[in-house]
Parts: sequence; C-alpha cells; structure tokens
Amino acid sequence: MNKKLTLDTITSFAKRRGFVYPSSEIYGGLAGIYDYDHYGILLKNNIQAAWWKSMVFERDDIVALDSAIFTHPLTWKASGHVDSFNEALIDCKSCKQRMRADHLLEKFGINADFMPLDQINLELNKLRETGELKCQFCGNKDLTEARQINQLIRTNLGTPTKELKDLTPEEIVYARGETCQGIYLNFKNITDTMRVKLPFGICQVGKAFRNEVIARQFIFRTREFEQMEMQYFLDPEIMNEKYEEWKQVRWNWYINELGIPEEKISWKKHDKLAHYASAAFDIQYDYSCLGGFSEVEGIHQRGNWDLSQHSKVSGVNLEYFDQKNNKKFIPHIMETSVGLTRLVLMVLDNAYTEEDLGEGKSRVVLKIKPSLAPIKVAVFPLQRDDKLRESAYNLYRGLKTKFTAEFDDSGNIGKMYRRQDEIGTPFCVTVDYQSLEDNMVTIRSRDTMAQERIKLDEVANYISSKL
Ligand code: GAP
Repeated sequence: MNKKLTLDTITSFAKRRGFVYPSSEIYGGLAGIYDYDHYGILLKNNIQAAWWKSMVFERDDIVALDSAIFTHPLTWKASGHVDSFNEALIDCKSCKQRMRADHLLEKFGINADFMPLDQINLELNKLRETGELKCQFCGNKDLTEARQINQLIRTNLGTPTKELKDLTPEEIVYARGETCQGIYLNFKNITDTMRVKLPFGICQVGKAFRNEVIARQFIFRTREFEQMEMQYFLDPEIMNEKYEEWKQVRWNWYINELGIPEEKISWKKHDKLAHYASAAFDIQYDYSCLGGFSEVEGIHQRGNWDLSQHSKVSGVNLEYFDQKNNKKFIPHIMETSVGLTRLVLMVLDNAYTEEDLGEGKSRVVLKIKPSLAPIKVAVFPLQRDDKLRESAYNLYRGLKTKFTAEFDDSGNIGKMYRRQDEIGTPFCVTVDYQSLEDNMVTIRSRDTMAQERIKLDEVANYISSKL
C-alpha cells in the first residue's frame, strides 16, 4: 500500500528521520539550500560510491579529478555562461510569487528552451490578450513582463577594490555553475601527466551553484547541489557509436546499481539544444512526489565547443595529437551529467512505502536497495538485561568492522524494528535468553519481516551474502 507520495510527506520524512534538513532553519531557512544529516550523508555516499565504481574502478579509460569550486573569471565568459546561462522569470503583481516563464509557456504546449527574451514576451503577450495567462498560485491575471536573470552566482573572492555591482564580467569570480568546466581547464594537465589516449574520460563529483529562480521542489532543484559528471574526449568520427554505448551504460546503471524499476525511467530527447550541444537526451525518473517524470541525468554531445573556446580565450593550444592516425585536432566531448542530490530524492521516492499490516497497524518502510542502505544491520538485546546487552553489544562491535551497523537497547522491540524500517536497514538481529544458551540469534529481514534463527558467528556471512 502506498498512498500518493507528496513533496510534503517526503520532505518531513527526510527531516524526521535524519536525512535532510532545511539549511539555517533556526534563522527561518534559506530558500533552495539544504543540509544533509547522518543517514542522508551515508545514502549520498553510497550512491556516489556506485557511480565511482562504474565510472572509474570497473573501467580502464576514465581518470578522476577534483577541481576547485572557483575558477579564473574568464572560464565562464569563454564557456558562454556569462552571456547565455539565463532564466526568464515573471512576478505576480498580486501575490508577489515568482514563476519561470518557460514553465508557464510549457503549460500551453510552447517549448521556450533557449528562446530569446523578446520572443518569450511575445508569446506571453499572446496569452495575455486571450485572457489565458494567469498566476499559477492565485489566478490573478496581472503579471509583470518576463525579465532575464543570469544563473551564475557571483562572489567577492579576492577582495576586489570595486563594489561587486561595478565589476565587469571578466573581473567577477563565480561559484561554478557546473563541475565540468574544471575538467576542461585541466585537459592539458591530464593529457600531459596521466598517459591517457583518446578516447578517454575525466570524471568528478562536486558542488555546483545556480541562482535558480524558483526552488520549491525540496532537493530536486536547489541553489547549491552536487553533480557527478564525466566528460569523454574523442575523435568526432566515433561520436555516434560512443554516444549510443554510453546511453546504454547509464540506463543500465539505474536499474542494476540503484535498483530503479525500468518502467520508472524514460528517455527525453531535446529538440532545442544548449549553445554547446549537438545532441542531448535526458534520463527521466517518474517522481511520485513531483507528480511525474523529471530529468535526473543529461547525456550530451558537446562537440568541440568547450575546448575550442578555452583554447581561444586562454591562448593555450588544447589540440590533441593522435599518433596512430597522425592527425592533430581539438577532441570532441560526450558528457554524462547527473545531480547526486537529485538522485538522493529519486532513491527516497522510489523506496518510500507505507504498508498496512492489518489489525489497524501500519509501518513506513524504506525499501531501498541493500547496497545503498545507510545502515546495513541493527543489533538489539530483546530486553533490558545486562547479559543480553553485553552479548548483543559484542556482536554489534564485530559487525561494525564490516558494515555500517547500529546498536539499540531501548527495549521496545516493535519500536526498534519500525525505526530501522524507516531508515531502510535491511537486517535486524535480536539477541534473547535462548541465544545465551545456544549461540543462535534471530535475524529479521526488512521487506518481508520474516525471521529466522541463525548461528551468531554466521551473522556476518549471512549479511554479506544478501548484500
Ligand atoms: N554540464 C552539463 C550540465 O550541467 P545540466 O542539465 O544543467 O547540465 C546536469 O545539469 C544535471 O545536474 C541535471 O540533470 C540535474 O540532475 C542536476 N542539476 C542541475 N541543476 C540542478 C539544481 N538546481 N538542483 C539539483 N540538481 C541540479
């Protein structure tokens, strides 16, 4: 049984169970910014580990990087973000709510991706004239013209002598809007030092920052978030072949590594493309809490736009010499780019289950893939008793060397199970008086709630085999 999952349910669940908190809550919060608590970090780390495994540890052609959040200001001028990384917004003159113009137009079947501002206003005016344009919050028809906001976040790094508002784009240090630019800036360092040969990839995980006009979808769209990006450098002759290969690799990752049912993901092809892209597909997930399919990952053909631009603006030659074919060229790029924090929401959304247990009882259980579960095993003494506690605690200490484990001796077995169910712990082990005599313990499985007796010294192997 799963009632329709709402954004409010998942937001309060994530807070109540120590996954995600609104940031700076004691000051009233900061829109679009969130903090991750203990279980949130463990879950995020497990998703990230699954990504590193498939990107780096299982392959021979990808190296890792951790570039800085801040880069030379010209980075963002060269990449086109200073001029084109914009969002058009409109305000309601009555309730003062802010809306994205492209989202409003989308409701009328108009795709405003990369549409110039004057055309956006033209389309909005047509709807104004027919009386169809309304505030999506209060229904008022008096809305402002659309205006454009650049999504890059400016900083005063380097304590410039001028006021922030007086700096030219070339002087402003931005918080990075995507992690991949740091990869392009290090392309030469990596080809010089890492003995890589085309085709090869560079990947990294890190924070990115965007001045999102609206940030009302919990951790789906935030102003500070984490990306996991891989940039694959290649000869354009093999682009299409590699692109299809990577689309398959990434699709399989959701099913095999994150345990997402295939029917809950889909492809979306972009007909209108970003300034750098020559083909773009998204993997979308059917978020119950958002009411339908939304993008989780973009897989893009970026051509040689990025390296050409950085080569041109920096004056450093970023050509690659292909010894085998005796040719020199600027490699083309195929990227896979996914929001790690958006994946946390996807995994929670997919796993969150409200179950009716009959006789008026119910439970919330996070049916998460065991390899992603923040805690793999919890150990309890059945009752508050020193001998039971000692035996259970020793078992817990041993298991903790192999798995993330928790010990709970609060005594109410029902409550202890429910708490672990809610954070998605696949196994709970209970030590009782019989255990002190026969060295057998009860192991309970989260999803089926089935219990079995196994030998105490076989618990670790049992869990390993199930994981
Ligand atoms: N380097 C390409 C790039 O950044 P993007 O489509 O803008 O492409 C890639 O972003 C992924 O980053 C998205 O599919 C999404 O998962 C994540 N992402 C983008 N903006 C986000 C935001 N404001 N909050 C959370 N995740 C975001």
